[in-house]
Amino acid sequence: MPPTSLPDVSPPDPSSNHASSEQPAPGRRLKALPGPRPWPVVGNALQVELHRMHQNLADWAAEHGPLFKVTLGGVKVLVVSDAELIGRLLRQRPETFRRPSRMQAVMQEMGIHDGVFVAEGEAWARQRRMVMASFAPQQVRAYFPALLDVAQRLHARWTRAADQPRVEDGFIDLQADLMRFTVDAIAGLAFGTAVNTLASDGDVIQRYLDKIFPAIWRRSLAVLPYWRWVKLPADKALDDSVRQVNLAIRQFVANARMRLHDDPARRLAPPNLLEAMLLAADAPDSGMNDDDVVGNVFTMLLAGEDTTATSLSWMLDLLWRNPDALARARVEVDQVLSPKASMAEWTPEDLAQLDWLEACVHESMRLKPVGPFNVVEALQDTVVGDVSVRAGTPVLLLMRHDTVSDDHFARAAEFLPQRWLPEGSDLAPTNARKLSMPFGGGPRICPGRFLALLEIKLAAAMLLRHFDIQAIDTPDGAPPVEHMALTMVPVGLRMRLKRRRMA
Ligand code: HEM
Repeated sequence: MPPTSLPDVSPPDPSSNHASSEQPAPGRRLKALPGPRPWPVVGNALQVELHRMHQNLADWAAEHGPLFKVTLGGVKVLVVSDAELIGRLLRQRPETFRRPSRMQAVMQEMGIHDGVFVAEGEAWARQRRMVMASFAPQQVRAYFPALLDVAQRLHARWTRAADQPRVEDGFIDLQADLMRFTVDAIAGLAFGTAVNTLASDGDVIQRYLDKIFPAIWRRSLAVLPYWRWVKLPADKALDDSVRQVNLAIRQFVANARMRLHDDPARRLAPPNLLEAMLLAADAPDSGMNDDDVVGNVFTMLLAGEDTTATSLSWMLDLLWRNPDALARARVEVDQVLSPKASMAEWTPEDLAQLDWLEACVHESMRLKPVGPFNVVEALQDTVVGDVSVRAGTPVLLLMRHDTVSDDHFARAAEFLPQRWLPEGSDLAPTNARKLSMPFGGGPRICPGRFLALLEIKLAAAMLLRHFDIQAIDTPDGAPPVEHMALTMVPVGLRMRLKRRRMA
């Protein structure tokens, strides 16, 4: 989802079935750990700026070491920055750790059915099986024609921008345009019907979703759930948005069922996520019903749109700042794709040959993961590293600590895509892929990662093959600020393009 799930700062539930009455195994006590000095009553909450939370935590990790504590909303939170230990904790799901319960409660209260991102235990395992069936490699290949169609619309939109006679009219708001691209790609696949924000600038459902997604973030972090006592106009509009989106998704489900009924050939290679999920839900013993499918359509939009657009924005910014890497990406794209007369002939196999471009994706996600922290919550008394934690304790995982440290990656601050290829193996530790986890890890690793990689490579290849980049910058020329919301977004990036003369 937001790959950044949020710390649950509500006090642990003493009635939780999972809370064990046994003493935790011996270890250092959480209370005894170092950490920023808490203020009376509010703890460290007021020392954190929400939009810079990842940076605040990184600064504290530099000061207090790989395991430290912070106090948020009256709850002690264990913070971990050691990537190997983080990997071990992520693998201990769903038995020993869960996602924090707050986001699930907020979404349920808003009227959103549980999807695989927030489900837990047996319900999660069933949903995960259904979702994974719709992300199997042959399935993702079946989505390619729909993705190509969206990439062609992005091409048309950027051609119009490149053709603007006045320079100032040709600036592209990079993050906004890439969001249109990923909204059209993912919503199209999740609804089973084309969505076109690239051409029309507006889509009714997307306008509702634009109200819902930020509200999940705000409410998950709210100190007081005021909306339970008094509904402001914004809260009423939110209720209405959720109602409308649920209604629309139910209609998409009904239409998809009709298509599968009318055209049984679709059952062999369903051309979109919705039909693939419905088929997986209908399999004997899946334990899934239409509510689960509706919850997961919602989840795909929430998990798949911002993440992919933001990862693309960061990569294009880094490529522009590293002209040698950019030039090599363009040579590679030309070599692989120049034999094709037009984009319409591109295939997933072509994109699979773009090794340098893929290395650029991994390298930009190392430096700019869209989820710089993840949060889990102990389901039972356990030990993290050498620290005893009680059931219910939130554990905040800093995903970008070891990955940007010279102790692990040579010349860690530099953008060097070759470290992900055999030629640059001296620039990466042997366990590099275990340390850099932009898609998370363990049984809950992002199921959409192959689809996301395909989308990113497709959009970047289209850009490199058809345009000369004139500039990617911010209005003041400074590197873009990292702004933490649902994802860690670059602020103010804009791009200027020129049509490329084809050889
Ligand atoms: C570059 C793009 C993306 C990034 C960086 C990303 C990252 C992540 C991360 C960090 C997690 C949490 C994993 C964990 O807790 O270990 C996650 C979970 C998830 N992602 Fe992605 N994601 C991306 C794209 C997508 C796409 C395109 C989809 C689907 C259309 C998707 C669907 C999901 C789902 C359903 C989960 C929850 C899995 C579970 O809890 O079992 N993601 N993603």
